[in-house]
Amino acid sequence: MHSITVAISKGGVGKTLLLANVGASLASRGSKVVLVDTTETMHLSRLLGVNNRNVKVTLEHVVKRSLVLDESVYPTRFPGLHLIPSGITLKDFLELNPFKFAEKLSSVDCDFLFIDVPYATVGRAALLSLGFCQYYILGPLDQTQGMTLCIEEGLNTIDLAALLKTVPLGFVINKVKEPDKLTNEYLKDLEQLFQMKCLAVIHYIQKMEEAFEKSPFLPLEKNPESEFTRKTESIADFLQRGMPRTLKTDAAEFLHTFIREKR
Ligand SMILES: Nc1ncnc2c1ncn2[C@@H]1O[C@H](COP(=O)(O)OP(=O)(O)OP(=O)(O)O)[C@@H](O)[C@H]1O
Ligand SMILES: [Mg+2]
Repeated sequence: MHSITVAISKGGVGKTLLLANVGASLASRGSKVVLVDTTETMHLSRLLGVNNRNVKVTLEHVVKRSLVLDESVYPTRFPGLHLIPSGITLKDFLELNPFKFAEKLSSVDCDFLFIDVPYATVGRAALLSLGFCQYYILGPLDQTQGMTLCIEEGLNTIDLAALLKTVPLGFVINKVKEPDKLTNEYLKDLEQLFQMKCLAVIHYIQKMEEAFEKSPFLPLEKNPESEFTRKTESIADFLQRGMPRTLKTDAAEFLHTFIREKR
């Protein structure tokens, strides 16, 4: 199993949408994919048509009440794509034990496991995402929120990931309204600064944002020809071609050692 998170300490940049679309794309090519929603907004779950009313066992039950993990893995309308819904309030989230979380999720049987966290990948969220996962996709850097700010947040995330021994897969730039500013030299400079490849540059799509506000949807399903889908499919291609080496084979053990050494 390869565990991956999409990480940057910035909200509303497209993390959840990217993660869900990449996951769905991998599933459509035959991989078994599990997406884990750890957020109290349950944005990911709503995207996939799963909400608290139609689920009995959630991540909260599994981690806090020691229920069986398998019962919290729900199929979605996409063959091969599964979801563990959060069922978590913000208070629950802050009380989640990272070791138990890691122990439980390590037993999921799948090819790719994606963890979606709330807006900020710092503090507790960092242990549950970057701390648990073997790999991360940095970003997305959101051009509408200002590249300088996103680059600064990107560098903070890279430092944190290095500390947590999470291997970078590359970065993504999203919501691009001024493509002229992203010249080849600029992208090369960023690759050098971040020491990783740019996996995708995605334009801002006004219609998508407007439609999304009314009722969340997966671009892969509703807009199979859109740029968002094409770019996320190319990220799925890249992941399917093979993953770099990771030393994080036992996430719970890794977190135990990490916390012990930091004390
Ligand atoms: N390329 C794009 N063009 C237009 N809108 C986009 C694009 N990518 C994402 N969005 C919109 O941005 C909003 C936030 O997306 P999403 O929820 O995936 O971000 P997030 O980083 O997970 O947010 P949060 O930090 O709240 O969890 C959504 O309304 C989504 O439709
Ligand atoms: Mg999100």
